[in-house]
Amino acid sequence: MRAARLHAFGKAAEVLRVEEVPAPPPGPGELLVKMLAAPVNPADLNIIEGKYGELPDLPAVIGNEGVGRVVAVGGGVSGFAPGDLVLPMCRGTWTQNLLASARDAILLPAGLDVHQAAMLTVNPPSAWGLLQDFVKLNAGDWIVQNAANSAVGRSVIQIARARGGKTLNVVRRPELIDELRAIGADRVVLEDCDLRSQIGEFCDRRPCLGLNAVGGASALNLANALADEGTLVTYGAMGRQPLKIPNGLLIFRNLHFRGFWLNRWKEKSPAPAIKEMFSTLAGLVARGELVLPVHRVYPLTELVEAVEEAGRESRAGKVLLDLSA
Ligand SMILES: NC(=O)c1ccc[n+]([C@@H]2O[C@H](COP(=O)([O-])OP(=O)(O)OC[C@H]3O[C@@H](n4cnc5c(N)ncnc54)[C@H](OP(=O)(O)O)[C@@H]3O)[C@@H](O)[C@H]2O)c1
Repeated sequence: MRAARLHAFGKAAEVLRVEEVPAPPPGPGELLVKMLAAPVNPADLNIIEGKYGELPDLPAVIGNEGVGRVVAVGGGVSGFAPGDLVLPMCRGTWTQNLLASARDAILLPAGLDVHQAAMLTVNPPSAWGLLQDFVKLNAGDWIVQNAANSAVGRSVIQIARARGGKTLNVVRRPELIDELRAIGADRVVLEDCDLRSQIGEFCDRRPCLGLNAVGGASALNLANALADEGTLVTYGAMGRQPLKIPNGLLIFRNLHFRGFWLNRWKEKSPAPAIKEMFSTLAGLVARGELVLPVHRVYPLTELVEAVEEAGRESRAGKVLLDLSA
């Protein structure tokens, strides 16, 4: 079987290789999973570059999410059988077969769309955590976010809508306005919109939660839109610019500035809550209420092209790796 292995940190074309790797049988408590598909996320690009909060020892098979089918179960495993569709919930997913801990793996409904399932482990749970852990949101409360067409942003729109929340969404491209409205965004505005002076035109009350994946001026624009005592959560830094917060937002408005990292959030979340979250998310996907677009699917043999494409701006959705061939 083949896997995408990283040999050094740097440019994908120089450091990533598709290699033959052994496929050992599952040990006690393990599942052998034949991987079907996995996305290329911004965090994967950061890891390849060597610029992420946690880096693997090299060489390493990389990839942080994906979906596959169980082909064999190890001793002592119950609740899984060959043929089951699963999220392996481990690192090293850009591979054709992997060993996953049965304790952590998530069993999915049999007929779930494989591409949607492949994108279920990282970005929808991040949206879930962002909406759940920082501000108690009541029906009708507003959330303001940037990079709203990203996989996290679209998940925020769709999960918030399912819970009765309202979203004010900032994007960089006008063609995204109708697209996001169609998946339930209440308002969509462009990056150059001055939210401080215009917020009253968009929302019947100021947002209590801001979600920032960009940084710099875009983050400040969100902060300026918030209600007094509101919270801005930073979870991404696509613009690679630091946050500059005017003193007055802290002194006179008492805004709260927080951060979110899924890895830490998962560590502190009880296992039953995580399983329940995935059951709810899978239900939304099955009903077509949580849909993330796919830009293009690449075979593993075109790994470097896939990674390079994922690093380009203005994509129409996620770049996926087809691991089944
Ligand atoms: N903290 C966590 O635990 C966590 C978890 C998941 C994701 N994230 C982070 O969340 C962010 C979004 O991830 P994703 O997978 O949802 O993204 P994605 O689907 O790959 O989309 C990338 C988004 O970033 C925007 N973008 C790219 N460069 C930008 C720039 N220079 N300025 C402003 N916007 C820019 C894109 O806009 P265009 O379409 O206009 O190019 C698009 O909306 C990333 O930073 C990722 O690392 C963090």
